[in-house]
Amino acid sequence: MHSKKFNLNIKEKNGKINIYLYIHFERGAFMNIAIITGASSGIGREFAIQLNKKEKFDEIWLIARRVQKMEALSNEISVKTKILPLDLTKSEDIEKFSLELEKEKPNIRYLVNSSGYGKFGSYDEVSLTDSSQMIDLNCKALVMLTLHSIKYMTKGSKIINMGSASSFFPLPFLNVYASTKAFVVHYSMALHEELKPKGITVTVVSPGWVKTEFFDRADNNDHVHGPRYYKPIYEAKNVVKKALKDAEKGRKESVLGAYTRFHRFGGRFFPRGLMLHFWKKMQKR
Ligand SMILES: NC(=O)c1ccc[n+]([C@@H]2O[C@H](COP(=O)([O-])OP(=O)(O)OC[C@H]3O[C@@H](n4cnc5c(N)ncnc54)[C@H](OP(=O)(O)O)[C@@H]3O)[C@@H](O)[C@H]2O)c1
Repeated sequence: MHSKKFNLNIKEKNGKINIYLYIHFERGAFMNIAIITGASSGIGREFAIQLNKKEKFDEIWLIARRVQKMEALSNEISVKTKILPLDLTKSEDIEKFSLELEKEKPNIRYLVNSSGYGKFGSYDEVSLTDSSQMIDLNCKALVMLTLHSIKYMTKGSKIINMGSASSFFPLPFLNVYASTKAFVVHYSMALHEELKPKGITVTVVSPGWVKTEFFDRADNNDHVHGPRYYKPIYEAKNVVKKALKDAEKGRKESVLGAYTRFHRFGGRFFPRGLMLHFWKKMQKR
């Protein structure tokens, strides 16, 4: 895959035999890169900042729809960036991503899948379009980007997928979003096992509430039902710091904070009815 071509040329001149070895490396064969989706804001943006400080890349590829935000980020970090303005709910844009990889043939050291969104509300308050697009972005796009990228990964490469604490048990009034994140967690953990022989790790990050633009889209007063308060709320920089440490150790999960870890424990070992009771207490009605 690393696209080397060898040519051996043997020439005889004045009774001497000269052997010439030509090695042709295709463009990008040595280009170490990180790819970050959702790079225009919040957690994705923070991954770009911290990865740039942590490791030396030839390029960081930034993916989201808002170009200006990614340009501003690009000016903030020292490494060369490639801005890919893609709407990952569109299959033609996923195809553009795959073509870009084919053209550059990079060595992907990190793939961070952070693009994602949620909508709060009951089943009849969340539009059909949103229900469908949450699945397209949070699940389908994440899988497609991962599958296209694995071909360009080598031993030590890392995939970091954004899950959520909402994956720990079924959540009324957040039902599609929480279910997409349960998908991400299961998919990531299973893939982690499958990729072990290649030395590639997958870390799924499942934070509780994080202070980002997420809420502008999730909770923009177009619904009655949904969470009443967001406490405790974490800083994106702390979520990302922990995620990068866990990814470095090859861990399959990253969960920041005792409160969030308690929820994970509850989801696994407490009766579902009890967890739903606590969750419902946090809801508007
Ligand atoms: N904030 C929380 O409380 C929380 C908690 C747990 C998990 N998470 C998860 O963490 C991840 C990052 O969220 P965040 O908190 O950083 O929220 P955010 O600030 O709203 O960031 C979401 C990112 O996704 C991108 N995005 C949205 N729609 C897209 C599309 N159609 N195509 C491509 N990119 C798209 C956005 O960029 P553009 O709008 O420019 O396209 C933005 O960069 C998400 O997967 C989210 O579900 C968040």
